[in-house]
Amino acid sequence: MIILIICTLSPRLNVPPLIIWSQIANDTGRCPMLPFQVLRSLELQQSLISRLKNIGIESISDLAISVPQDLFEHCGITDERSALDLVMRAKKALTESGTLAKDFSTADNLLERRRNLLKCSTGSSRLNSFLKGGIETQAMTEIAGEYGGGKTQLCYTLCVTATLPLNKGGLNGNVIFVDTENTFRSERVHQIAENRGINPDKILQKVFVCKVLNAGHLEMVAQQLGKSIEEYDAKLVIVDSIISLHRAEFTGRETLAERQKRLNIMLNKLLRLAEVHNVAVVVTNQVQSQPDNFFADASGLPKVTGGNILGHASTYRILLRKAGRHRIAIMLDSPYHAYDQTKFMINEKGVYDIEEPRGYRNSEPEW
Ligand SMILES: Nc1ncnc2c1ncn2[C@@H]1O[C@H](COP(=O)(O)OP(=O)(O)O)[C@@H](O)[C@H]1O
Ligand SMILES: [Mg+2]
Repeated sequence: MIILIICTLSPRLNVPPLIIWSQIANDTGRCPMLPFQVLRSLELQQSLISRLKNIGIESISDLAISVPQDLFEHCGITDERSALDLVMRAKKALTESGTLAKDFSTADNLLERRRNLLKCSTGSSRLNSFLKGGIETQAMTEIAGEYGGGKTQLCYTLCVTATLPLNKGGLNGNVIFVDTENTFRSERVHQIAENRGINPDKILQKVFVCKVLNAGHLEMVAQQLGKSIEEYDAKLVIVDSIISLHRAEFTGRETLAERQKRLNIMLNKLLRLAEVHNVAVVVTNQVQSQPDNFFADASGLPKVTGGNILGHASTYRILLRKAGRHRIAIMLDSPYHAYDQTKFMINEKGVYDIEEPRGYRNSEPEW
């Protein structure tokens, strides 16, 4: 008997099946880039190419991960069926060029492919073990937590570690940092790199920061992110934070459905980009303030904002909690990690292992 498992990324109709990155990373961990012009190789009319570019679809990989309904609504395509055909043509072109896996792969093939995932060190060997190696490419990792919980500090540390070579726990690539809260501080990234003995000036040149002003701007940046990932040779995309702007702008109950719909489109886009470009996507999120645990869920943990939309989109959901000078990371949701927690601290090196008492031997290697 053959068991078929069909994975989809979105509850929306007409979304193509999960696209799997099939290119085995070479020794630099980098996969070949697709030139922007290749849309032409699908032999599309120039006017259609222009309309696609107007909504941020610049390459075949952008087209392969787009939502047919969006093409139908915004590109003058006559019906949804034709829009779906167009997306499937792009996907077929990538499959034929060997960039994507075929629609159906055996589970052991998928396991083999997962062995080629890249994992980025968090700066703490314990946190890395907790994550089974680090922050993964081809996935969206959500870091949730209260104010001051260490979300941004973890992102800063990842800015430093992601640029390191693969054998030092890095992704050997650049970083895109989308800052929606105006909290990005180059000085802090500089300090973390310097205290880890890494040339800070070189690191700062590898971090591309985008200051986002409002929810519409963030959606536009997400829409064009495929092009930015190629242009800046990024292996890590950070959005700090993912829903604060939408929360601030869509306040009344009557706007909730619209907010969730727009968030859903953006999150799906981020997840698909992670897969197609073999990059790690990290998004931060808040928890609801809870003066008397009113907002805590049944487990007693604070409730993460964003509702089911964000919960379903994130591959991994990690909650950070303050515990005196330390931080506790809790794995709230994962397709393969058991519910677990670990401790770390934040110091001048960013995220770091807690200093253990004398005589304690930690066998885990440090990057
Ligand atoms: N240079 C530093 N050295 C040590 N700890 C720091 C430093 N900068 C910030 N921190 C710690 O990080 C905390 C802020 O964490 P942050 O990641 O910015 O919070 P959030 O979860 O709201 O993004 C501060 O309260 C402080 O404990
Ligand atoms: Mg922050």
